[in-house]
Amino acid sequence: MGKKPINQNKVVVFTGAGISAESGLKTFRDADGLWEKTPIELVASPSGWQHDPQFVLSFYNQLRKNAALAEPNAAHLAIAELERDFEVVVITQNVDNLHERAGSSQVIHLHGELNKARSTADANHIYDIAERDIHLGDLCELGSQLRPHIVWFNEVPFHIDSAKKHLSEAGHVLVAGSSLTVQPAAALLKKARYHAKKIIVTMDIERIPFGFKLIRGHASKLVPNICQQWRIKKTKSKHRE
Ligand code: APR
Repeated sequence: MGKKPINQNKVVVFTGAGISAESGLKTFRDADGLWEKTPIELVASPSGWQHDPQFVLSFYNQLRKNAALAEPNAAHLAIAELERDFEVVVITQNVDNLHERAGSSQVIHLHGELNKARSTADANHIYDIAERDIHLGDLCELGSQLRPHIVWFNEVPFHIDSAKKHLSEAGHVLVAGSSLTVQPAAALLKKARYHAKKIIVTMDIERIPFGFKLIRGHASKLVPNICQQWRIKKTKSKHRE
């Protein structure tokens, strides 16, 4: 079956922790990043949860508090404003809700969301908890302990098929603030089309995904510039029609 045609009106923005760094939220792998202080397996793995659920709950209660105090930065806002000229789908590895608070209307969270809790008995029971803590003894309607609605290592990310579909259709793909070290999230970018416009904005990266142009620097400066360029180009092409 032939590939679907590329949709020049569709933009996919794929983000990681680096886009929230300038909102004051720590990334994972930068110097003084989260995984430098707290070993991943203790707080972001099913074994860590089995070993010491209170420690895991406290870790995410603190992240949730930090995220609630953070504000969307110019990068989040520029991505939200891009919706004035394009169909924009944000595919994020982040668990904060800064894209939503900036005004983005289509946000896919591959790794879950801090503001949600879920049953440990049935993963379909998901609850909005906003900025509230989760405590040992907080039970779901089935009587089981609530856990953070976060994808831990060795767990399957959410919305993979939908993310692949959006990436295979988009005429523009912007990656912002990810080291692209975590799979299967990073591998999704292989679905971006050869003729799509593909840019990655980050500071340190080991391997640039095939066909992407790397622009190194701060997302809060570079992302608004790129969004502006894409919007001007679109408006000009509309006038030519
Ligand atoms: N502007 C642009 N890029 C930045 C900025 C900034 N101000 N600050 C940091 N970066 C870049 C770093 O150079 C790095 O490439 O953001 C990236 C952050 O990488 P990570 O800390 O690995 O975060 P991320 O890629 O989102 O991690 C993916 O790993 O631990 C898991 O589930 C967790 O979702 C997370 C996933």
